[in-house]
Amino acid sequence: MRIGILNSGGDCPGLNAVIHGVVGAASQLGWEVVGFRDGFEGLLPPGDFTILKPEDTVGILKLGGTILGTTNKGHFGAKVGVGDIALVPHEIVAQAKQTTEQLGIEGLVIVGGDGTLTTALQLYREGWPVVGVPKTIDNDLRATAMTFGFDSAVVTVVDALDRLHTTAASHKRVMVLEVMGRHAGWIALHGGFAGGASIILIPEIPFDLDRVAEAILRREAAGLHSTQVVVAEGARPKDGRQMLHVTGSGEYKLGGMGEQVAREIAKRTGKETRTCVLGHVQRGGAPTTKDRILGTQFGVKAVELIQQGKFGHMVSYQNFVVTEVSISEAVHRLRLVKPDSQMVQMARAVGITFGD
Ligand code: F6P
Repeated sequence: MRIGILNSGGDCPGLNAVIHGVVGAASQLGWEVVGFRDGFEGLLPPGDFTILKPEDTVGILKLGGTILGTTNKGHFGAKVGVGDIALVPHEIVAQAKQTTEQLGIEGLVIVGGDGTLTTALQLYREGWPVVGVPKTIDNDLRATAMTFGFDSAVVTVVDALDRLHTTAASHKRVMVLEVMGRHAGWIALHGGFAGGASIILIPEIPFDLDRVAEAILRREAAGLHSTQVVVAEGARPKDGRQMLHVTGSGEYKLGGMGEQVAREIAKRTGKETRTCVLGHVQRGGAPTTKDRILGTQFGVKAVELIQQGKFGHMVSYQNFVVTEVSISEAVHRLRLVKPDSQMVQMARAVGITFGD
């Protein structure tokens, strides 16, 4: 039997662990794995692919990114903006099908976030034998309690905060760190909590700049002359909007709220304030141990789903067990931080301000 694997959308630490898991588990069954390059684009005739043997995956667990390459553009872009869904044109799907049929692919593992899984669902509905694996550093898919890549991103945020802390303390400054996460505040919340931030601004809790300034001045009065502020890229003021920009290719991108918050803090408190935008550093580099384990387990489970003929399903992590859900149940459902969750309450209990 021959199966295929591709990853699409943004990269994320742990993708190579999934490839390692799929190839390892498939080879135990005597199956051959075809790895398609650059996401769905690799499916287009004449096909851009490589046969992945176990020896090709030696040493890839520790590598960031993906050995197969990826793209969040091209002929298969199912998501064109916030809430906008576009179906992949029929002729493109038909061309891709020629490739998988010629190669005799009997199961296709599609690894990606919400947009990629939307395409996977379309292909399944058009008769393709697909299974999904969820991927995103944002950890914002409701159908899985955890996605690989998130832990690595949080570790990077904590490392940045540790470094920013020493320079902020030396200069008695306010340091604003803008982090990724799209419309979810998971990276900001977990990173800020573990990295000792005093103020965390997340999309789920709109903030008031007066409250933010008051918190900094309270610290100042208590003799705490430096403050770390984590701002999620999707955060927004109570009376304002998210910082959304449309790119040349019509995609929506978030970014810039950190700088805006820093400017207002400096104006309202008189404190010297600096901004650091962590950006794609959060997506790069080696995956953490946790993400290597989760990624490999997701790969193994994907092969199991193919073996059981559970096409149209996606691997999911629930109650400390790797299980599955149907892709149709999984897409377009964001998992956001609940403002009254235990994590938020505990953050407040240790004096962290959310600016509300
Ligand atoms: O979804 C992952 C993510 O890194 C978001 O946190 C961020 O907003 C976005 O992707 C950045 O996308 P790109 O790599 O296309 O700039």
